[in-house]
Amino acid sequence: RGTPAALGQCAPMLQFDLLATDPASHARRARLTLHHGVVETPIFMPVGTYGTVKGVLPQSLHAMGAQIILGNTFHLWMRPGLDVLRNFGGLHAFENWHKPILTDSGGFQVWSLGEMRKITEQGVHFASPVNGDKLFLSPEISMQIQTVLDSDIVMQFDECTPYETKGHITTEHEARASMELSLRWARRSQEEFARLQNRNALFGIVQGGMFEHLREESLAALVALDLPGYAVGGVSVGEPKEDMLRIMAHTPHRLPAHKPRYLMGVGTPEDLVEGVAQGVDMFDCVMPTRNARNGTLFTRYGDLKIRNARHKSDPRPLDTSCRCEACAGPSGVPWDEGGRTGFSRAYLHHLDRCGEMLAPMLCTIHNLHYYLQLMQEMRSALEAGEFSAFRARFREERARGV
Ligand code: GUN
Ligand code: ZN
Repeated sequence: RGTPAALGQCAPMLQFDLLATDPASHARRARLTLHHGVVETPIFMPVGTYGTVKGVLPQSLHAMGAQIILGNTFHLWMRPGLDVLRNFGGLHAFENWHKPILTDSGGFQVWSLGEMRKITEQGVHFASPVNGDKLFLSPEISMQIQTVLDSDIVMQFDECTPYETKGHITTEHEARASMELSLRWARRSQEEFARLQNRNALFGIVQGGMFEHLREESLAALVALDLPGYAVGGVSVGEPKEDMLRIMAHTPHRLPAHKPRYLMGVGTPEDLVEGVAQGVDMFDCVMPTRNARNGTLFTRYGDLKIRNARHKSDPRPLDTSCRCEACAGPSGVPWDEGGRTGFSRAYLHHLDRCGEMLAPMLCTIHNLHYYLQLMQEMRSALEAGEFSAFRARFREERARGV
């Protein structure tokens, strides 16, 4: 195999400019320039697995300040398949989202199939969840699919080390074998990415389970590949919260300071603030969208369950200070600033009870707006040199209760 340079790799389509750093933590404010646009970080990326952020129009995503969304290699490969996506010149035109897109490599999604898969050095054999066909996914195939998708950020093909393996907590020996396999797959991903002359940006994924020294080995070997960005994977995989916080405090700030850092699959609003303090620039999680669909809403003053009977005749919106389309209506003026145009808790409670589809739509808009607004507030606080004060106020307000 040739090195990436020997294969004629060009400078990737990514620029990362640090704008401010917090002296009291690892937090930083930066600007990430990608093929399809600019992303102000720290940022949260809404999840659009099947080429749609469930229930939300692209124009609503724009309105709430989304700058980059996710797509999934595995799901889009299953349906609609590469022929359709190739005809559209990639995922952007197909889903009518012309800003940046990041796609996950399929490693994590295949892992989620559980018993239906078999992992070898070459890749993963599995039965299609759509029609049972025998399928095979590898670093090379993942890079080929993500090249057709034309994702601004391509994730390496990896194995997400689970917290538990065959009924016991993953041992150090198992975590090492998995981490080393992901490293070999990182090199194969990089070689194939170069061979395909993909002009977007390939990110490596640090693994190593719950073991700090394995994380350090993984990180050092990935940094030696000089990829344009790095993710921390294998967290939020069923481990106790304290283990997740331990890895969050250990790994991100050790990654190169001049490259973007992405914490995969995390988390609650509290996790985002903690992650930013630990030097993370990018997050994705299904939590705001999935929770919205089952009626759990995030607000400045804590979480709220719209199914609860106490909301039955409450005229207030979900969050009286929120400027989202659900809480503030088209005016964008919050309820408590005199804009009385949003949807009430009573109405959302009613829609939910009737199973009306407007309920999950409005709840998703609110939750995503909350997450994106939280990131915006962190960016502003970092610019103003007030991140510590922001963190303290955030904790206090979230604990106050709705
Ligand atoms: N999403 C959440 N965690 C992971 C991970 O470890 N690897 C990949 N590819 N995706 C993820
Ligand atoms: Zn709202």
